[in-house]
Amino acid sequence: MSLSVQNVGLIVGSLRRESINRKLASSIVGLAPDRLKFTEISLAQLPMYNGDLENDRPAPVRRFTDAVRNCDSVFIVMPEFNRSLPAVLKNAIDWGSKPQPENVWLDKPVGMTGISPGAIGTAVGQQHLRQILGVLGAAVVGGEAYLTNRPELFDPAGMLADSSTEEFLRNYVTRFADFADKLLRQ
Ligand SMILES: Cc1cc2nc3c(=O)[nH]c(=O)nc-3n(C[C@H](O)[C@H](O)[C@H](O)COP(=O)(O)O)c2cc1C
Repeated sequence: MSLSVQNVGLIVGSLRRESINRKLASSIVGLAPDRLKFTEISLAQLPMYNGDLENDRPAPVRRFTDAVRNCDSVFIVMPEFNRSLPAVLKNAIDWGSKPQPENVWLDKPVGMTGISPGAIGTAVGQQHLRQILGVLGAAVVGGEAYLTNRPELFDPAGMLADSSTEEFLRNYVTRFADFADKLLRQ
């Protein structure tokens, strides 16, 4: 049995206007099971983590942590930067991890994918992301979904235009949704 609606917080780990990961994220919203309701949780306004701000957290930080806390699950689409996750995403995770009793990642079901031009598109970056989320007690779905960008992968409108890639991602996102449902039902 699955939940009728699963509210998924969608995090794109790139701030770039023409981001291929943002295009991938948009395509995933379109191909995912209907019961998933995606809402983007933006990283764009977050300041760099600074413990001096803890007594009066900036509004964008509170909006970010409230959004992660209130969604059923989180789906991350990110590029790989220097074989790791982009700093903008690590910064957001750090804000969400503090103060430790209010860690928003604890027991949160998380799925991830990403695309980069490299041959092992984001695989190593995802390993780092998994490690960090594991330390924070998030429930990361098993398996891997990473893509190497190719010119023919997206159509001129920026949507995925490759049926086998769509099928692969649909399977991964469905497995993520089922995994999250199992945890949320408990
Ligand atoms: C600082 C930096 C480091 C990068 N490191 C990697 C890397 O380790 N592996 C990789 O495949 N691509 C790497 N790239 C290339 C990015 O994956 C590529 O620019 C990608 O398009 C960025 O994602 P976006 O289009 O969603 O912004 C790097 C790019 C930058 C700016």
